[in-house]
Formats: sequence, C-alpha cells, structure tokens
Amino acid sequence: MLTTFASGTQPREHLRVRSVRRGTRVSAVVASSLALTGCSLSGTLAPRGPDAQIAANIWWYMLWLSAAIFVGWLALFVVAMVRRPTGEIDEEHEQRLHRRFIVGGGIVLPSIAFASLFVIDLLGIAALPQGDEVVVDAVGYQFWWEFAYEHPELVTANELYIPTDTDVQVRLRTEDVIHSFWVPQLSGKRDMVPGRTNVLTLHATEPGRYLGECTEFCGVQHANMRFEVVAVPPDEYQQWLDDMVAPAAEPQTEDQRRGYDAFMTASCAACHVIRGTPADGRAGPDLTHFAQRRWLGAGAAPNDRGHLGGWVVNPQSIKPGSTMPPVELDAEDLPVLLDYLESLE
Ligand code: CUA
Repeated sequence: MLTTFASGTQPREHLRVRSVRRGTRVSAVVASSLALTGCSLSGTLAPRGPDAQIAANIWWYMLWLSAAIFVGWLALFVVAMVRRPTGEIDEEHEQRLHRRFIVGGGIVLPSIAFASLFVIDLLGIAALPQGDEVVVDAVGYQFWWEFAYEHPELVTANELYIPTDTDVQVRLRTEDVIHSFWVPQLSGKRDMVPGRTNVLTLHATEPGRYLGECTEFCGVQHANMRFEVVAVPPDEYQQWLDDMVAPAAEPQTEDQRRGYDAFMTASCAACHVIRGTPADGRAGPDLTHFAQRRWLGAGAAPNDRGHLGGWVVNPQSIKPGSTMPPVELDAEDLPVLLDYLESLE
C-alpha cells in the first residue's frame, strides 16, 4: 500500500504517505509498549491450556465490565451537564439522590462485580480437567533455568518438554534470588522463593513451543531469562525421555575428538556436566544434549555456530552480567570445540 502511495508525486499524496507512515509508526509504538509492559497480550489472550483459559476469560470479562461501567459513568456525566437544576433546590430530594448513588455505586455495584468475578473463577476451577500427572522440577538461577525430570540423571536447561493433555506439576525452586515462572499461554505465574518449593500446574491442550519468562526482577539479565516449553503428544514425550536419558554422543571425527580434549582441559568441564564423560561441574547448564537446544544463554542468542563461538570466547559481550566467564583457548581449539559441542545431539 505504501509503495502505491509513494509512487505519486502530488503534494496531497505525499501527505497521505506521511500519515500512513505515521499510522504504522503509532501502531508499532503501541505494539512495542504493550510488549514492554511484560503483558505479552498475544500470549495471555491466546491460551492453549485450561488454566490459561481461566485467566483469559477473567481478563475479557473485566475488560467488558469496566467498559460498561465507564460508558455508564459517561452517560451520567452527560445527564448531569444537560439537566442543570433550575429554580429552588429541594434539599431533601438531593440528599435522597446522594444516598442512592453512594449505596448503589459504592456498595451494590462493586459487590456484584466482585461476586461475579469470584463465581467465574470458581466455575473455571471446577471445570479443570483431571488427567494423568507428570512431575518436573524447575530451578531458577541468575539467569537461566534448569529442568529435572523423573529420571534422576535427566537434567536439561532452558527448554522444558511436557506431554500434551497431561497435568504437569512443576516444582519451583531457586538456587539464589527470587525468580518468577510464567508461561502466559499455559498458566498463571508463580514465584520461586529461596528455601521454599512452590508448585504450579502446566497443562497444554495443543502441541507447540510456548515462551516462558522470568517475571520477577532478579538482576541485570532479568530480561534475558527466558525458556521454552515444548509440548508434544505423550508418546513423543516418552520417546524424547528415552533419547535424553542416553549419555552424550561420542566424538566421531578427528576434529570432534580434539574439541572434546579442548573441552576437558579448558575451564568448561569445571562448570558443566556432559553425561558419559569426566565433565561433571554443576555451576552451569547440563550440556549432554546441548545441540538440540534452540537458544543460548536462556534466550539471549540463537544457538548457531557464530553466536556459539562468540558465547564461548566472550559471553559478557552477549549477556553482560552472566555468571559464565570467558573461556581461554588457543586459536586453533575454538573451531574444533564448536565441532564437538555441535555434535552433542
Ligand atoms: Cu530471574 Cu528475573
């Protein structure tokens, strides 16, 4: 549309181009402001699970209720402006009116509004499906997530696999400060508090990838503390568990073997686990099946070779404040180390 407008040379058409552009800019600003509020509207209002559906229902109900109240208030305002009292004022009549407004607008109306919200909430909770259950542990760290499954050795980072149509009880803990766990399309949010275990139920009705975020300010990289929930059908989930329980792939090529040696001799092995190898550091994410992940640094950068190289050599340039230190490597060791990491399917 813009190109059609822009092809004209008349001043009026220039004006139209400008106003269309301004319109586009305004909608972009509105969209980004909404995103900045952390309310990711598309997420909350596109529920893919029964718990999130309750939140969405309540949101819409509150929107229409407040819109109706606002319109009613405007109508009263207009009536008051138009029908100014003329002549002598009947004090008693005025006082009766005031009392009616205070009782009606200050007690009856809010009581109906709150009671109806409560009923909608209760009806939603009562209608929640009771299904099979899976238990997963989620642990928050500055600034990433660890997920542990029922198999004692199976630990992943920043990607949480769950089966669809199943109640997934997520036990929430933190290893440092307070974080908050939120997957807008699947559930409400819940804090991860030091010394406590809170539980939140995730339930996805459709397979897909759902964005999760930390929603409690926890330090400089709070904004880069994201994760993905990957919901797959139950049989696929079982297959994924079986694949993930297997130890890491052995290096196959000469370069991968040299990369393996570089990993074990540099500082990497002191902080990361790769199951089936001597690397058993617990400070950072488990890297056993690292190559399957889509993101680095809890959503800070895509997991491709270029970003991975930058991440290994200077993580602070991608995520300032991350607890990962730069890895000191000989120049020829970096490409082979990347070869090895990329082989960890
Ligand atoms: Cu973790 Cu904010």
